Amino acid sequence: MSNIMNVQVHLQSRPEGEATAGNFSLVEVPVREPQTGQILVRNHFLSLDPYMRGYMDDAKSYAPPQPLNEVMLGGTAGEVIASRAEGFVPGEFVVGTGGWQQYSIFDVQRAPDLVKVDITRVPLSAYLGAVGMPGLTGWYGCSRIIVPASGQTFVVSAAMGIVGSVAGQLAKHTGARVVGIAGGPEKCRLVVDEYGFDACVDYRAHRDEESLAGALKTACPAGVDGYFDNVGGTILDAVITHMNTFGRIALCGLLASLDGRPRPISRPNLLLIKRLLVQGFFVDDRMDLWPEGMKTLGALVANGQLRYRETISEGLASAPGAFIGLLSGRAIGKQLVRLN
Ligand SMILES: NC(=O)c1ccc[n+]([C@@H]2O[C@H](COP(=O)([O-])OP(=O)(O)OC[C@H]3O[C@@H](n4cnc5c(N)ncnc54)[C@H](OP(=O)(O)O)[C@@H]3O)[C@@H](O)[C@H]2O)c1
Repeated sequence: MSNIMNVQVHLQSRPEGEATAGNFSLVEVPVREPQTGQILVRNHFLSLDPYMRGYMDDAKSYAPPQPLNEVMLGGTAGEVIASRAEGFVPGEFVVGTGGWQQYSIFDVQRAPDLVKVDITRVPLSAYLGAVGMPGLTGWYGCSRIIVPASGQTFVVSAAMGIVGSVAGQLAKHTGARVVGIAGGPEKCRLVVDEYGFDACVDYRAHRDEESLAGALKTACPAGVDGYFDNVGGTILDAVITHMNTFGRIALCGLLASLDGRPRPISRPNLLLIKRLLVQGFFVDDRMDLWPEGMKTLGALVANGQLRYRETISEGLASAPGAFIGLLSGRAIGKQLVRLN
């Protein structure tokens, strides 16, 4: 394989504040031959996700920081082109953590999230979005933590993103009233028109907690029973003021703190007064449930009952810019990079 070249994106430096394209470098290396127990995959799509920003810092988190001068960590979907591992043959499609590169070697025994996927009814790219890790995050937080029901009100932030849009659509299937929070009138329109939410609040038009709380009150006249929080900060504070007694909050992400500045909850007394259940979760903690979740989400996508949008940038060199765009809200739906 040494005649084929592999292009990779490495983390060259750690961001100070916001991430920039200068934090990344493009590196070319020969493609390696797979050894016993390994497969070589030509990646068709790379997934760009907000968690990658946290890994760029040299800070304590739930996973070790991304090492400098190594391939950026990331989910990939592609085709097996050479195999020395039992059970894998060239031509099969797989999803795993292949990194920001065109070709990946997987040691199949040491790649817990490597799965073969069937692309006859679900497009390959969806296994990085609605039917992959982000979709499973929405599915788990909605169906295992919040458990919405008919007659209740379910609110989700970053509602046009892949996690939020899956969580909200699944909540809608239960008969709950579903309200999204998203940035800008166009995203809010899509959340209602394409994903079938009952309402969507544009948080960019309501910058302070009081104004946002007023808009939420209008959108949620019966209060909020379940909140799927992707953001934290002011949005979380505003939703808490409208939570009903014994409400549930699934703490999924903290997009408002990606710059590293802590954003404490403004009125923790409300958690007590309203007897709220707040549960943080990582989808990786329950990988035992992934096959069940993928089956459910795959069937919904195949039947047209779960919709999603993708923003696809072309070529690996476009990945750093697309990643920065994702963090600033430029992507509509799932941000992917098409590789080969
Ligand atoms: N716990 C887990 O296991 C797990 C797994 C996967 C993902 N997550 C989390 O799930 C969340 C959503 O992920 P995703 O992949 O679907 O990404 P996403 O929603 O597409 O994320 C980017 C979006 O976040 C919004 N955003 C950025 N900064 C914001 C801010 N300060 N306030 C409000 N919104 C802001 C922007 O949308 P607007 O234009 O609407 O502002 C942007 O388009 C993230 O927090 C991610 O870390 C958690």
